[in-house]
Amino acid sequence: MSLDRSTPNEIIARYEKVFSRVQRTSYAPVIAVRGRNSRVFDVSGKPYIDFTSSAAVTNLGYCDPEIVKVIKEQAEELIHFTFIYGYNIPALHLAEELLSLTGFKNWRVVLGLSGSDANEGALMLAKGFRRNSNVLVSHLGSFHGCCVGTTTVSGVDLSVKVAEAVGPWLKSVKVPYPYCYRCPLGLSPGSCRMSCVESVKTLIDDVGPENVVALITEPIQGDGGIIVPPENYFTQLEKILRKHGIPVIVDEVQTGLGRTGRWFGYQHFSFRPDVITLGKPLGSGLPISAILGREDIMNSLPDFAYSFTLAGNPLIARVALRTIQIIKERDLVRRAERLGEVVLSRLRRLRDECSIVGDVRGKGLMIGLELVKDKESKVRGFEEAKKVVWRAYELGLFIMFLSGNVLRIQPPLTIEEDVLEEGLNILEKSIKDVEEGRVGDDVLARVRGW
Ligand SMILES: Cc1ncc(COP(=O)(O)O)c(C=O)c1O
Repeated sequence: MSLDRSTPNEIIARYEKVFSRVQRTSYAPVIAVRGRNSRVFDVSGKPYIDFTSSAAVTNLGYCDPEIVKVIKEQAEELIHFTFIYGYNIPALHLAEELLSLTGFKNWRVVLGLSGSDANEGALMLAKGFRRNSNVLVSHLGSFHGCCVGTTTVSGVDLSVKVAEAVGPWLKSVKVPYPYCYRCPLGLSPGSCRMSCVESVKTLIDDVGPENVVALITEPIQGDGGIIVPPENYFTQLEKILRKHGIPVIVDEVQTGLGRTGRWFGYQHFSFRPDVITLGKPLGSGLPISAILGREDIMNSLPDFAYSFTLAGNPLIARVALRTIQIIKERDLVRRAERLGEVVLSRLRRLRDECSIVGDVRGKGLMIGLELVKDKESKVRGFEEAKKVVWRAYELGLFIMFLSGNVLRIQPPLTIEEDVLEEGLNILEKSIKDVEEGRVGDDVLARVRGW
């Protein structure tokens, strides 16, 4: 039931009046009022299949009955009691569960509210650990959040623009991410000899290894366009970093908790993180994040140095714990891996048929489909992406693009198989409609995105 009697256009106009532009960039005018598993319903009751999981958050779908139940139960008992000045039990249970998921010994936990603050904290803790260093290393195309440190280390165009607008703050250097479809070094896979690893080595030597605070990285780049590195990239990178004792912060905010067909995205590759950050799906839609890491790094700052009043809140901690239990009980990590293979093979067939589908890549249910003007030139299909998103919206599929031209396919890990197929049918039709010129330029002004 809608909480407001205004028309959709009136609601959208009121949005423009009250919210700052810094918080929004819309894809399609879906005003959601209800959600059930993989579908959201708008004010008129029209259902949309959601291929975004609301930005990789609702991995258990909308309003999972078990999650709703635990919210109600805990709300009746205790909504908030600070674990900073006192103790609550759900925060403890959650922290223990998170540590056992990593399997690493002598690690510690910090709880927070959002992926951005988890990464910000990880950077601060790394800085405390390497007090005399002052250079943060990260990847071109990365996205780690919107706070001071996380904006500075993020390499997506938007964050670079924001960092420029804010002016110099922290020292950060960016190294190329192995985006093999568009190699930042202009090389080809197979003959490149992993020059991107060599370029990190050169950069660290130039800066001076003792000056590097940490490397922060995504095991699969998310907002940069769902980019999967080659198998041995991180193994080789780790060797360079270990030699100098430089910690690796693995940002699992988007990839963590089963999304990629592993509990953690880094587990697709053979390397060991020193710090892991989590966010997005951890609270099934309620705000919570976590930093997990080596004790010597996690305890590198004074008592009480990184503590948010609402962190470790018993209601959300209990929901997060239940979220992890449900992923285990329903075997959703393996389900993501299996369904991911189904989606990838179907989309690869589509890539072979369509001139505007340049690349299809991903792991588990974290899949990107890169649109181009044509396969030869690989010129990015920015307009094509907007048109596909709009056409899909008209046909009942909510989808978005990243990096301007990469469609983001991240449905809930619980999506029903027939709904997944229906969503893929809509996606395929939308792409073909755009390729065959059936979507007009008038829709370009309606989709913003990033
Ligand atoms: C990999 C990654 N890290 C960090 C963040 C920031 O998380 P949040 O927006 O929840 O603060 C995001 C958000 O998109 C992300 O994808």
